[in-house]
Amino acid sequence: MQSWIPLVPESASSFSWKVDALYFYLSGVTLFFTLLISAVLIFFVIRYRRRTPYEIPRPVAGSHKLETLWTVIPFVIAMTMFGWGARVYFDQYKPPENAIEVYVVGKQWMWKLQHATGQREINELHVPVGRKIKLIMTSEDVIHDFFVPAFRTKADVVPGRYVTIWFEATKPGKYHLFCAEYCGMNHSGMTGSVIVMEPREFDDWLSGNIGSTTPANAGQQLYQTLGCASCHGATGEGGRGPTLAGLFGRETPLQSGRTVRADEGYIRQSIINPQAELVVGFGPIMPTFQGQVSEEQLVQLLAYIKSLQVTGPTPASAASPSPAGATASPGASPTRNIK
Ligand code: CUA
Repeated sequence: MQSWIPLVPESASSFSWKVDALYFYLSGVTLFFTLLISAVLIFFVIRYRRRTPYEIPRPVAGSHKLETLWTVIPFVIAMTMFGWGARVYFDQYKPPENAIEVYVVGKQWMWKLQHATGQREINELHVPVGRKIKLIMTSEDVIHDFFVPAFRTKADVVPGRYVTIWFEATKPGKYHLFCAEYCGMNHSGMTGSVIVMEPREFDDWLSGNIGSTTPANAGQQLYQTLGCASCHGATGEGGRGPTLAGLFGRETPLQSGRTVRADEGYIRQSIINPQAELVVGFGPIMPTFQGQVSEEQLVQLLAYIKSLQVTGPTPASAASPSPAGATASPGASPTRNIK
């Protein structure tokens, strides 16, 4: 299937028309000025050509009016591009609350994906049509780039951090997935497809592919085997370490006086480099887990910590002296903020 405009990929997500509109605006402005400048250039060449061999041109004094005009007009045009572009960008990089989460790990040279319900995929992503899908992406080795042209979804996948992006597919079908960042010898082969299905078909697909544990369950096992429970409590209620239940998405006061929103990136950093941003009231007693947990295991721990959100009695509501829970009201709805 092709778009009605040549060279433009098919449009199959709720964003694609926004990106296209902006792109056509940029192309239109570029085309308009290219033609205008060329025309004026040709006109001046003819109009002000040298007519006799010894002609001395009239002195030109310059014009403030003209200079102001050709500064202000391009400035205004550039700002419309900036404002419009920023809007589209933030829209795409700020996932909505109710999105279906999919974890993505890039490596040389494949995409490993896992649904929150446990299903694993390689170089393929099955999603339902008309639902918001949030991708939480990282890389095991070098920078990759998750690119689905038909959705206009494109984001660098960077080792050492999480990148989140979201999309909503609007048409069932099979769409190309590319790696759009040169990542070594088989970069060009790091491709796959996104399969957009009707919701019922998708449910069938999901139930036909169970078997692997969910990331949250795998994370729970890791939480025990790595000994996290000894400081953070068996179910994240806290102890020598800060409370983890209800942590995700919450504003957390730090030793340094700053406050940080406990998002994916913060939790990841706290496992890899616990000393970097200590929670107020806690000493630097946690060892680093750098090199001990793989990217996929980090994702599992993250999924487990997120799942602690909904567990029964919130520690903060109890009269526990836990400093981490002290400032947050138990019912505070977690807001996720992607920076
Ligand atoms: Cu991965 Cu290019």
